[in-house]
Amino acid sequence: MKAKTPSESLTILTDLVLPGETNPLDSLFGGELLARMDRACSIAARRHSREIVVTASVNHVAFNKAVPVGSIISVEAKVSRAFHSSMEIFVDVWRECIETGNREKVNEGIYTFVAVDADGKPTKVPLIAPETPLEQERYDAALRRKQLSLVLSKRMLPKDATALKKLFE
Ligand SMILES: CC(C)(COP(=O)(O)OP(=O)(O)OC[C@H]1O[C@@H](n2cnc3c(N)ncnc32)[C@H](O)[C@@H]1OP(=O)(O)O)[C@@H](O)C(=O)NCCC(=O)NCCS
Repeated sequence: MKAKTPSESLTILTDLVLPGETNPLDSLFGGELLARMDRACSIAARRHSREIVVTASVNHVAFNKAVPVGSIISVEAKVSRAFHSSMEIFVDVWRECIETGNREKVNEGIYTFVAVDADGKPTKVPLIAPETPLEQERYDAALRRKQLSLVLSKRMLPKDATALKKLFE
C-alpha cells in the first residue's frame, strides 16, 4: 500500500456560528464545536483510508478562545500519522474576520479514528509521508500520544509504553 501525504486528506469545513448553537454567553457551544471537529476528522480519515471509519478516541481538545455568535469558523483536519488500522488526525479551528480576512486560531484537537470493514473489524490503512516541518513534528510525536491514549483506556500496560518511557529517560 503506497504511503500518502497529510495534505491528501486535508478537509476544511467552513460555516457560521448561528444563535441556536451557542451557550448563555452567546459563544459557540463546546459540544457543537466538537461535533464539527469530529465530522471534519471523519472525512479526513475516510479520504486517507478510503474505508469506513469510526472515532476511537478524542485525545486532546483545547478551547482556547470563545467564538461569538455570527463568527465564521473553519475547521481544518488532516491525518498526521497512520499505524495499522488507526489514524491520528489533527484538527485546527480558525476564526475569520470578515472585514479584514485575518484568521485567528481559536481551538485545536487530536482525534484517533480506526478504519473498519463492513463487519466493523479494523482494516489496514496506508502509511503517512509527512512533507512539512509541522507535519513531521506531529508525525514524530504521534506514537507517544497513541501509547498514552492506549494506557489511559487500559488497552496497554504502562510498562509497554516504550515511546512514552523514552520521555523520562
Ligand atoms: C475502535 C474499535 C474499532 C477498535 O476495535 P478493536 O476490536 O478493539 O480493535 P484493536 O484493539 O485491534 O484496535 C484497532 C486499532 O485501534 C487502536 N485503538 C483502539 N482504541 C484506541 C484508543 N483508545 N486510543 C488510540 N488508539 C486506539 C488500536 O491501537 C489499533 O491500532 P492499530 O491497528 O493502528 O495498531 C472498536 O473499539 C469500536 O468499534 N469502537 C466503537 C467506535 C464508535 O462507535 N465510535 C463512535 C461512533 S463513529
